[in-house]
Amino acid sequence: MQTVRQPDALRAAVAAWRAAGERVALVPTMGALHDGHMALVEAAKRAAQRVVVSIFVNPKQFGPGEDLAKYPRKELADSRMLSNAGVDLLWLPPVEVMYPEGFATNVSVSGVSEVLDGAHRPGHFDGVATVVAKLFNQVKPDVALFGEKDWQQLAVIRRLVADLDLDIEIQGVPTQREDDGLALSSRNAYLIPEERAQAVALPRALGLAERAIAKGTDPEAALAQARETLTAAGFAIDYVALADAETLGDPIEGRPMRLLAAARIGGTRLIDNLAVNPAALD
Ligand code: PAF
Repeated sequence: MQTVRQPDALRAAVAAWRAAGERVALVPTMGALHDGHMALVEAAKRAAQRVVVSIFVNPKQFGPGEDLAKYPRKELADSRMLSNAGVDLLWLPPVEVMYPEGFATNVSVSGVSEVLDGAHRPGHFDGVATVVAKLFNQVKPDVALFGEKDWQQLAVIRRLVADLDLDIEIQGVPTQREDDGLALSSRNAYLIPEERAQAVALPRALGLAERAIAKGTDPEAALAQARETLTAAGFAIDYVALADAETLGDPIEGRPMRLLAAARIGGTRLIDNLAVNPAALD
C-alpha cells in the first residue's frame, strides 16, 4: 500500500490506474478505523479494481466545544489494517494541504443539511460537504462509499453529487453492529463500561419503534415510547424522528422512511438509524 501525503503523488498514482483502464473507489474516513470502516473497504474492493482510503480529521465539521481535540487518532494501527485489507493507497493529507492559508470556500447543501443533526450541529454538514467535495476532486473516484450509520451525511452527499453533476457513484454500506446491536462508531471508544452497557438502549429503542410503526402504530406514539425508553436508560436526547429517507423532511406516504436518533450518554453523542418498511411485514 502506498501512503501519500501530497496531491501531486496522489494524482500520479490515480492517473496511472486510469490509463490502465482500472476503476477507482474512494472510502473517505477520519481514521480510528473499526469493522464498520473495513466493511466499506470490502465493498470498495467489490466495486473497483483500485481502492483509495483517505484519513483526515476534518476540523471544519466539528463545532466549538465538540471533540476535535480528543477525536481518536491511530495512524499506525489504521495503516496496518488498511494494508492487510489490500487497500492500494492511503491518502493522508496534512491540514495545511486541505486548508491552506487563504482558504475561503464553503460548500453548503441546503434543505437536507438543515434538519436533525444539522439543526443540532450548526455548520457540521457544510464542513462535511466541503471536505468531501475536495476529496472527490483530489481523488476523482468512479465510486465512493459511505456508511449508512451516518444516514443524513449520506443523504447530503447524494444531494451534492446530483446537484453538481459529479460523475461519481455513491454507495451506502449497511451499518455494522456489535453483537448486542450497538452501531460501530469511533466514538464508542469514549464510553466507560457503565455507559457502554446503557448505550444498547439506543438500537433497542429504535428497533421497537421501527417494528411498532411498521405494524401500524401511530408514529408519534412509537417515537414517544422510544424517547421514554432512552431517557429511562440515562440518555439526553437530541432527537428521535421519523423522516423521509431521501430529503430527511417529514415522511410522505408511499416513499421510503427512516427512523433516526441522536442522544448523549455521559459526554458521548451517539447516532443511529433504521429503515422503516411497512411492506416488509405484509
Ligand atoms: O464519516 C466520516 O468519517 C466523515 O464525516 C467524512 C465523510 C470522512 C468526512 O470528513
